[in-house]
Amino acid sequence: MKTVCLYYSRTGKTRSIMERMARMLDADLFEYTDGKDRSGVKGYISSCIDTYREMPPVSIIGGEPEWEKYDRIIVAMPIWAEAPCVIGKAFLKQYSGKFKGDLYLVVTHMARADYSKSICKAYLYSSVRPKAHLSLQTKKRDCGADIKHFVQAIGK
Ligand SMILES: Cc1cc2nc3c(=O)[nH]c(=O)nc-3n(C[C@H](O)[C@H](O)[C@H](O)COP(=O)(O)O)c2cc1C
Repeated sequence: MKTVCLYYSRTGKTRSIMERMARMLDADLFEYTDGKDRSGVKGYISSCIDTYREMPPVSIIGGEPEWEKYDRIIVAMPIWAEAPCVIGKAFLKQYSGKFKGDLYLVVTHMARADYSKSICKAYLYSSVRPKAHLSLQTKKRDCGADIKHFVQAIGK
């Protein structure tokens, strides 16, 4: 099973989770972005505003993976305003038509809530229906056990 993991991360939490997951799965790892500087308070506010604006074009840093090489694609994104962030939704809208393998989604969030229902909002933007998803609370928490459990569930 050849896996590719792709993530967007504003402050690094989703990045470190996906780095761990990719290591456990021997997967290739890519970062996608809308190219906007979203650091600090200004970046937080603009992210809130952009949530309600038109979807931005996104790109994959270093170029697109060779999609036909992968039979599993794991796409990760943070939750913004109770839903998968606009950049993640834009990514699915733009690229999911090219996926050749099974799709899995990962969302990260601060609240202890299970965002499984919100993840379905991202399903609407994907031309492939995800096989499963993972909702990961990141605040003051080591997600290692949850990541391991997810990796075991989907299999290496
Ligand atoms: C604009 C914005 C809105 C957010 N809204 C929520 C939210 O509704 N619920 C939540 O639990 N976390 C929310 N968060 C927190 C992030 O989802 C959380 O910190 C995430 O793990 C950050 O991932 P990152 O470091 O990869 O960017 C929000 C963050 C931002 C920037």
